[in-house]
Amino acid sequence: MAQIRIRNTNERITGEEEVRSFLDQQGVLYEHWDASKLPEELREKFVLSDEEKATILSTYDAEIRDLAARRGYRTWDIVALSEATPNLEELLKKFEQVHTHTEDEVRAITAGEGIFIIKGTDDVGYFDVELQAGDVISVPENKPHFFTLMDSKKIVAVRLFIETEGWIAHPYEDPTFQKA
Ligand SMILES: [Fe+2]
Repeated sequence: MAQIRIRNTNERITGEEEVRSFLDQQGVLYEHWDASKLPEELREKFVLSDEEKATILSTYDAEIRDLAARRGYRTWDIVALSEATPNLEELLKKFEQVHTHTEDEVRAITAGEGIFIIKGTDDVGYFDVELQAGDVISVPENKPHFFTLMDSKKIVAVRLFIETEGWIAHPYEDPTFQKA
């Protein structure tokens, strides 16, 4: 289940309702899908064939279509990252810059774990959202953020888009941001 860490105070927020309510106040959508729906052999698999990706998408077809209908998302795919991914370190370095997009960044974690670092309201500042299998997040358009992996360096997620072109990263220069 997702957890929040507020960087300025190190305060942690846990519990599905508390996390949802905090993120809701920050304009970030948070939902939870049933991680146990995924066939067992895919729960710890981070290098995927096209067929396995299709299996994940069909497992969550109803959840994907429901979210897409509510939020206007029109396409979706699977992203898988692990130490087996070529140039993972380089890729992560590229990710770890605060940026914005002109559409929501939507991730439904189906295996592994990852973190979104998001710029909150002025009274909160930056906060981390630590996500595990079953957690679904939509970071709204124009909200500064970046994504990175946790120490396990393994994740599989469904990505949903309105237009894949909307997902281009625009760097957000923020002198107040402190890497932690
Ligand atoms: Fe992003």
